[in-house]
Amino acid sequence: SAYQVILLAAGQGKRMKAGRNKQFLTLGGLPLLQHTVRVFERDPWCRRMYLVINPAEEEDIRRLVEAERPATPVEYVEGGKERQDSVHNGLRAVKGSAGELVFIHDAARPFVTEAELHALALRTEADGAAILAAPVKDTVKEVDGEKITGTTDRSRLYAAQTPQAFKLSIIQEAHEKAAESRFLGTDDASLVEACGRDVHIVEGSYENFKVTTPEDLLFAEAVLRRRMEADSE
Ligand code: CTP
Ligand code: MG
Repeated sequence: SAYQVILLAAGQGKRMKAGRNKQFLTLGGLPLLQHTVRVFERDPWCRRMYLVINPAEEEDIRRLVEAERPATPVEYVEGGKERQDSVHNGLRAVKGSAGELVFIHDAARPFVTEAELHALALRTEADGAAILAAPVKDTVKEVDGEKITGTTDRSRLYAAQTPQAFKLSIIQEAHEKAAESRFLGTDDASLVEACGRDVHIVEGSYENFKVTTPEDLLFAEAVLRRRMEADSE
């Protein structure tokens, strides 16, 4: 099941407090974004990447992507103010037929694996819309101020990850509708859910976390080191 991927890298990385877009921070000596591009570059099922970026960073980003010498075509798309705007721009750049698979992925998640990508592609081919998600480890409380108003059964809670994958026409329709009604969702699946469509989950790994705050870099280095050791055995 071939797919195309929209890679979102147009954020500012404010919570990382690094003074510049976290995509340039190095993990094991390589920029974060380069790790993520490498995963998709190596996956034979990925036939095109749409890299959504801040135009002010285009030169630097092109340099690090070209260092990968990608055989997979890469197109550059200008990002928007909110993540959803960036996805919207990415979707407008995607070329393909209605039933084609498009993955939407945070460039800040460098540890997604090829096995996860393939499981997700197969599920999306069958069902039209699917996302990677991991079981929530904490008990989650709903609160009003500091008073607890509810506890949701944890066994029914999953934390949404990316990629989130869709047949092209489904996600394009969902984004157009959201733009018309000014609905701002916190992920792409929620826009499809708002259309009354079913979205399925494929269980992902806790290692597919989003590099967001400074302490995430420690965990990222540890995951990277362990994978490098596993590779060299
Ligand atoms: N992103 C984007 N366009 C935006 C906002 C975010 O392409 N307008 C991308 C980010 O580059 C990131 C992904 O969406 O890869 C997930 O967003 P997040 O982790 O929130 O990254 P940032 O928005 O960069 O970080 P912060 O919210 O801390 O500023
Ligand atoms: Mg953000």
